[in-house]
Amino acid sequence: MEQANPRPQKQLSVYFITCVAALGGLLFGYDTGVISGAQLFLVQTFSLNSQQQELAVSCVLVGAIIGAVITGKINDAIGRKKTLLGLGILFTIGAILTAIAPNFVLFLLFRLIVGIGIGSASSVVPTYISEMSPFQIRGKLVTFYQLAVTIGIALSYGVDLYFAHLGMGWPPMFASAAIPGVLLTVGILMSLETPRWYASKGRWDDARGVLERIQGADPDFELNEIHSSLSIDQQKGRLADLFGPGLRWALLVGVGLAVLQQFVGVNTVIYYAPTIFQSVGVSSASSAILATSVVGIVNVLATIVALFLVDKAGRRILLIAGCIGMIIGLGLLGAVFAIGPTHASLVTLIALMIYIIAFAISMGPVFWLMSAEIFPTKVRAAGASTCSFSNWVANFLVSVTFLTLINGLGSAGTFWLYGIIGVLTLVFCITLVPETKGKTLEQIEGYWMNNRHWVPSTQHTPLSTGHGD
Ligand code: BGC
Repeated sequence: MEQANPRPQKQLSVYFITCVAALGGLLFGYDTGVISGAQLFLVQTFSLNSQQQELAVSCVLVGAIIGAVITGKINDAIGRKKTLLGLGILFTIGAILTAIAPNFVLFLLFRLIVGIGIGSASSVVPTYISEMSPFQIRGKLVTFYQLAVTIGIALSYGVDLYFAHLGMGWPPMFASAAIPGVLLTVGILMSLETPRWYASKGRWDDARGVLERIQGADPDFELNEIHSSLSIDQQKGRLADLFGPGLRWALLVGVGLAVLQQFVGVNTVIYYAPTIFQSVGVSSASSAILATSVVGIVNVLATIVALFLVDKAGRRILLIAGCIGMIIGLGLLGAVFAIGPTHASLVTLIALMIYIIAFAISMGPVFWLMSAEIFPTKVRAAGASTCSFSNWVANFLVSVTFLTLINGLGSAGTFWLYGIIGVLTLVFCITLVPETKGKTLEQIEGYWMNNRHWVPSTQHTPLSTGHGD
């Protein structure tokens, strides 16, 4: 067992730690967004038919599903920090290999590998940040992760456009992801393992050592909280525990939010915005791409607003307001298509703005935040990875059914269907999602274990013994 280092070590800002880990989110956003601009060039290089094009887009989602499944166990066994280090290396190598792929089959294989990284990052990054954060600002810090996802998407549009203008085609578009990959690898080497992972392994001295190195943390209070929570349940965390009484509600909330986050149709807007604009009369491709970039930038800006509100207004208010906004946006979008879309580009832009702003202040950040804060330490990695897995499966299902739905129900019917799911999401949030603002991770655990009632922090057994074991 590693001993705590007796030498006083430099303190680290929790913002530095958060920004480094959030690079995993940036890579998630970049690597999912990059394909939209690269596709045109891939079609030329590999002479792709439409099925192969769909494969080029969806294989990253399949990789992400695999990545989300395998991460829970790895994350628990080797720790959050080493998992992130592995991811940094995987993203870097994946970016370079994709850029030099000599044929389409290898291109798909390398995209699958990058997809595994994305799925894995979407489970480990929120968990890592949430376990590092002082509870008062946990919402804000985990929202940095979603902010990084949106920046990654916007950045990928810009980079695609840049290399397209230079006439350099798709290879540099994919290779550029190596830069954040290297930054993540180097940054995480300078960062720390989480106190809660150490504690779950019985390494209390290391847990205290980390808390003493995080600027502004309260080591005694936090260790007390972690200790009482871990002593409630001495068992080793197992996946089956997620289905036990109490925690099955947490699982329902986590998986419900995961699926609904995708079923409100966000990625049809993210991936298909240029097509939507063209079908309402924005004639030139470049104006459609420009309008899409506006959607990307508004997504980033609205997420910044969420960052400041999530610990003040709370998660529930954001979810409820956001669902109402998404329902209005989708209703309007459906109406544009029902009435006859030609020359309704301004109304379409307004409807898409309302929708994306509403998503970016609610389901975007709050789902990922909750996936990382509602499960107890022993099963947090398993819980987060189950949520992330459900989210990627739902993402895949929406992506492969969108065009079929448009053909079957028409555009208006499709957006109204997403709007109806928005109504269900609203009901789900009002009735089942607890307000976790200002609660420690251990209080949240107490909520599930006490029949969904809050237990004040002081009622936890105080830490009376030493930490070493
Ligand atoms: C979702 C992604 C989506 C992105 C858009 C994320 O929270 O999980 O599927 O593309 O938000 O900003």
